[in-house]
Amino acid sequence: MCGIVGYVGPQSAQNVVVDGLRRLEYRGYDSAGVALVADGKIASAKKEGKLANLEAVLAADPLPTSGTGIGHTRWATHGAPNDVNAHPHLSDSGRVALVHNGIIENFASLRSELEVDGITMTSETDTEVVAHLLGREVDNGADIADALRTVCGRLEGAFTLVAVDAQAPGRVVAARRNSPLVVGLGDGENFLGSDVAAFIEHTRQAVELGQDQMVEITADSWTVTDFAGQPAEATVYHVDWDLSAAQKDGFDWFMRKEIHEQPRALADTLLGRHAEDGSLTLDEIRIPASELRSIQRIVIIGCGTAHYAGMVAKYAIEHWTRIPCEVELASEFRYRDPIVGPQTLVVAISQSGETADTLMAIRYAQEQGSKVLAICNTNGSTIPREADAVIYTHAGPEIGVASTKGFLTQVLACYLLGLYLAQVKNTKFGDEIAAVMAELQTMPDKVQEVLDAQQQVLDLAAEFADNPSVLFLGRHAGYPVALEGALKLKELAYIHAEGFAAGELKHGPIAVIDQDLPVFVVVPPQGRDMLHDKTVSNIQEIRARGAKTIVLAEADDDKVAPYADVMIGLPKVSTLLQPLVATVPLQIFACELATVKGHDVDQPRNLAKSVTVE
Ligand code: F6R
Repeated sequence: MCGIVGYVGPQSAQNVVVDGLRRLEYRGYDSAGVALVADGKIASAKKEGKLANLEAVLAADPLPTSGTGIGHTRWATHGAPNDVNAHPHLSDSGRVALVHNGIIENFASLRSELEVDGITMTSETDTEVVAHLLGREVDNGADIADALRTVCGRLEGAFTLVAVDAQAPGRVVAARRNSPLVVGLGDGENFLGSDVAAFIEHTRQAVELGQDQMVEITADSWTVTDFAGQPAEATVYHVDWDLSAAQKDGFDWFMRKEIHEQPRALADTLLGRHAEDGSLTLDEIRIPASELRSIQRIVIIGCGTAHYAGMVAKYAIEHWTRIPCEVELASEFRYRDPIVGPQTLVVAISQSGETADTLMAIRYAQEQGSKVLAICNTNGSTIPREADAVIYTHAGPEIGVASTKGFLTQVLACYLLGLYLAQVKNTKFGDEIAAVMAELQTMPDKVQEVLDAQQQVLDLAAEFADNPSVLFLGRHAGYPVALEGALKLKELAYIHAEGFAAGELKHGPIAVIDQDLPVFVVVPPQGRDMLHDKTVSNIQEIRARGAKTIVLAEADDDKVAPYADVMIGLPKVSTLLQPLVATVPLQIFACELATVKGHDVDQPRNLAKSVTVE
């Protein structure tokens, strides 16, 4: 969602900013723009559509050379995605240029105030209001940093704001509240970005900014303050992935690359989790064991795919720890007055660490006295920074909008958390925990086996490319897998897809089944007789109504084979861990089907990678 770049230094700011915007394309956007400070003026260009459109405008009508610039990719909230609403927005006098990510909730009253002052708005955006407020301050003699500070004090809502003043060359100022912003530290040059991808080709030294902080960069300085103008603490960190991690590496889609990176992502997430005595260690958990022992309830929150990872976690964590565990959509959580308190552990799952719904939910939980543990893939992002503890997934940057390696590593991190709690609470013997850990260590190879056998799924995707609807069913830990399979297909192929608990079939969904509907069914491993056999019965019910069954089951599952039109063989794993292998063919299916339909897999329509507004 909205990408932001800022630059001050000796290079062409236009080039640095446009390259940075390209690296942020994955966040999702529908227009783009840049503004430079040159010769005491603001020079800017903006255009609806992809970055290529902006580049064409810049080629046709070049901006002057400058070493100070800002840029933006906009994901429309207030106002249609068109040239006028695209950022940057300029103040009335044209002296200040501003880009913004977030939503200014009190923009209507601010807009009326400006209109009374005789300012005419040219766009439908909330951002333009802020540009005019800033302009009014600097026109009255304020320094741009002071102006931003004053204006921030009047804003409600979520924002990252980055501004330049025509009369302050060599300076870019920025502020953040509830919306992401990082600083990149170069040698004689400095950068701002919505995330580190914006400047990773120039530097891997970054600074994370806290809530309600401002930063000013020049070519050789960076200064962080709070909204009152007092110096504020900011942590410098080293970005542990490099440019190649943010490149496609010969794959035609980031998503396809990320699907194939899953064995490594799982292996990296498992690294260093054992103490010398063989017990499980989770160094990042900063909540004392005594406090964890007193936990009476776990509430897992997340959105979309992260929510489904939480659903998988519930089965495992309750089974291993006997602690009651609920899973809730982060976007619903705080609005229903949930009952949480000091004896509830809230687990927030977020790949990006910036999802606004999840962030607001953890703040609410903390206000009620709960401890919050984040499962996150993005170092330095807001959710782990505000949480009381964190388990980082080590998936590397996830660029494809649809989450793949993010999901698998989230599920894995949830298993680690469940086993750790079982160890702390003594609900499992050490050898039982060690046995699950040993099986987890085999999962990277098992996922690789699934990837090696992908041709069958590729063929299937080509066969079903014109199907208007697909159903996914699963039981137990296979149920969230079915939901995830359906979500991936909706997101990428833009076709109707539904996931159901297989046992629910007879309670309604069976009515939609006919001979034209492909039905994917995730079958639990054969060892758990009841679960397995009940699912096989469900498959028979589907077959009896003429639908085509695509069954994901253990490769040697003879009981289900007779009822499968297509059998996708899975490696042998225990029931609770099966989502790690069963999800992969469904990811491949969605990716390939969308490819066959000619869709942009990495940037599906209407979607943003990191949803930073509620
Ligand atoms: C689906 C997908 C989204 C995200 C959701 C949460 O493929 O990517 O549903 O899972 O927006 O995002 P994070 O995990 O960044 O909080």
